Amino acid sequence: MPILFNEKEMLFKLDTLSSSYIIQVYDEGYLLHLYYGAKIPDMNVKGLAFKGLHTSHNPGNEIINNRLGNDQEFSMDLAPMEYPTFGAGDFRTSAIQIKNSAGNSVTDIRYKGHRIYDGKPQLEGLPATFAREDEAQTLEIFAEDAVTGAAVTLIYTVFEGYGAMARSVRVTNTSDKAMDLEKVYSCSVDFPGMDYQMVNLYGEWFEEREEVHRNLQHGTQGIYSKRGGSSHEHNPFLALIGLDATEEHGECYGFNFVYSGNFVMEVDVDCRCCSRFTGGINPETFNWHLEPGETFQAPEMVMVYSNEGMTGMSHTFHRLYMKHLIRSRWRDVRRPVLINSWEAAYFDFDDDKLVAFAEEAKDLGIDMLVMDDGWFGKRNNDDSSLGDWYVNTDKLKGGLSSLIERVNALGLKFGIWYEPEMVSPDSDLYRAHPDWCLHVEGREKSIARNQLVLDMSRQDVRDNLFEQIASVFRNNKIDYIKWDFNRSLTEAASMLLPAERQGEVFHRFVLGTYELMDRFTREFPDVLFENCASGGGRFDAGMLYYSPQIWTSDDTDAIERLSIQFGTSLVYPVSTMGAHVADRPRTPLATRGDVALMGTFGYELDPRKLSDEDKELVKKQIEEYHRYYDLIHFGDLYRLIKPVDNAYHCAWQYVNEEKTETLVTVVTMRQRRTPFFILRLRGLDPTKLYKDMDTGEIYSGALLMNAGINLTPLHTGATDHAPSTDGTSLKKYFKELGN
Ligand code: GLA
Repeated sequence: MPILFNEKEMLFKLDTLSSSYIIQVYDEGYLLHLYYGAKIPDMNVKGLAFKGLHTSHNPGNEIINNRLGNDQEFSMDLAPMEYPTFGAGDFRTSAIQIKNSAGNSVTDIRYKGHRIYDGKPQLEGLPATFAREDEAQTLEIFAEDAVTGAAVTLIYTVFEGYGAMARSVRVTNTSDKAMDLEKVYSCSVDFPGMDYQMVNLYGEWFEEREEVHRNLQHGTQGIYSKRGGSSHEHNPFLALIGLDATEEHGECYGFNFVYSGNFVMEVDVDCRCCSRFTGGINPETFNWHLEPGETFQAPEMVMVYSNEGMTGMSHTFHRLYMKHLIRSRWRDVRRPVLINSWEAAYFDFDDDKLVAFAEEAKDLGIDMLVMDDGWFGKRNNDDSSLGDWYVNTDKLKGGLSSLIERVNALGLKFGIWYEPEMVSPDSDLYRAHPDWCLHVEGREKSIARNQLVLDMSRQDVRDNLFEQIASVFRNNKIDYIKWDFNRSLTEAASMLLPAERQGEVFHRFVLGTYELMDRFTREFPDVLFENCASGGGRFDAGMLYYSPQIWTSDDTDAIERLSIQFGTSLVYPVSTMGAHVADRPRTPLATRGDVALMGTFGYELDPRKLSDEDKELVKKQIEEYHRYYDLIHFGDLYRLIKPVDNAYHCAWQYVNEEKTETLVTVVTMRQRRTPFFILRLRGLDPTKLYKDMDTGEIYSGALLMNAGINLTPLHTGATDHAPSTDGTSLKKYFKELGN
């Protein structure tokens, strides 16, 4: 059983195949965190909680002190607390802070009971990992603040076979007075040391999710979003990895928040050199008013432990998300190769131009035409019409159905762009309902990209959007939606909520968006859903629950995209990354194709402008996409040479589950003057023999992984043997002999 309770010792032990996590119920019901790390068989771990005698600066509990004399062994300020509270003796970062009816925020929770059961609960209104009863086990620890009547349930689900756990927290007001949740984090883990690197994914628009490492220092360090979305700047992912951990080796603890709004993830290192990870909804933009009897459910944090380096951590996230997070039926289905009109035409298109794109695309082997921004209201640039989701008949002269029929007649599917959460001041929707956007009476409304943000906490707003969008989908054969979100939230106030609930707006906005996506995906389960937020501004696990693929970045330059795709792949599966070949000629078309193969493949260019030679290459790329689909989308990814680590080359590799096939891609970002280049592969079976399908040469897995393949170019400019000039790429495909 993955979850054990030892009643005599009052210990909980949560085991996966690779990790153990141990919680103790201490005197007076304090919940202590004893251990998280590689799997251990023991329960005898109570000694791990002691961090030295406390001083007059580290408060102890009154009852324990009276009973034991001056108990110098236990202080809330030093002990590894399982879910630390604010104001009652622990001065490190707290996980929960509740303002009670007396007006203070002192919070103190103690163990009351627990429940262990098979399966996993759904989190009401929130995306979360899911599992059948035979796939996971859950522990709920019931804790209580006896003075205020806040009942706090700590929820832990163990995915035993994956090396992963999911945590969340539920708070119910059992008193007869209102209270305010000022902070409810989803997770806190105390580590017995500070010898870790913090790894996170940093960036901005056009440059999302670059992998960043720093060694922990005393004090706090962390990442956050206050933008309303999970953001381009900091992805809701943080890992603590050993100082000597690498891609291939060492201990890694990965935390990924299943949430698409404001968050905080931070590490607080105390003066005893212990580190506390905490994460959850950003308290700076959050206050949840809880009336008697009401319950608040915090989102989920997924936790992965790997002692096989960052690769092991990524594989766990990928496998877990492919089976237990993404719920679209498209998850396991081959995605259509699409051509998107955005970079091909921007706002300048009509039905004939789109049909001309489709005509060319059909001959190339492309499966779907996506009509991006500009098809609705009177939108000819970005200064109007968001919210008016009816066809611009000046552009689509015969209307939408006629365009779709023409595209379908060519044998292509049809997809469409929406940005549901936004409204242009110059729109019929805004003129009819000026109070539907987020704003503060009397204040100027901040404008970004000429648009305002709708108040998604309002049912009437969501109903209007759903009806507008659903009627288009009900009346037209649309196979795909690109759901965009192109600005951050400001003046986040809602006209419908009372003063004491205005602190809920940011979270209610996210809940409202989730509800709309839920309705949409339930009514149109066959529609392929691609998320987008000015590229990858909401590339998070919350969105993956609804949308099996997300547009990774607006940056379609193949070389710049390498670090974006590599960073994204630390957490998110390859099949979730929208990756297109664009008209960015500084890199050869072949390389652009090879880079875009690391994702859900498509084109973002005017196909009429391709030369005959390029058309042949595009056909070949699409054939390769189909040939390698299963290997790339369902295999394991190995980041062989990261673009952030090496100025010259970037290389990655996919290996199928049976280890019978592997595909290696190498991009020469810049050619060395002394070009000697050996590349060692990973993830193969050392005892198997593999055939290089280009040359027919046969190598053992042991050779490929230890000696490597020699990619030194024969002479400068040669492209047959190695990617030798700047921006060129090379693929190598090996198959097990006899397979
Ligand atoms: C965002 C998206 C782009 C495109 C434009 C349209 O920037 O990331 O792909 O859809 O909006 O306005």
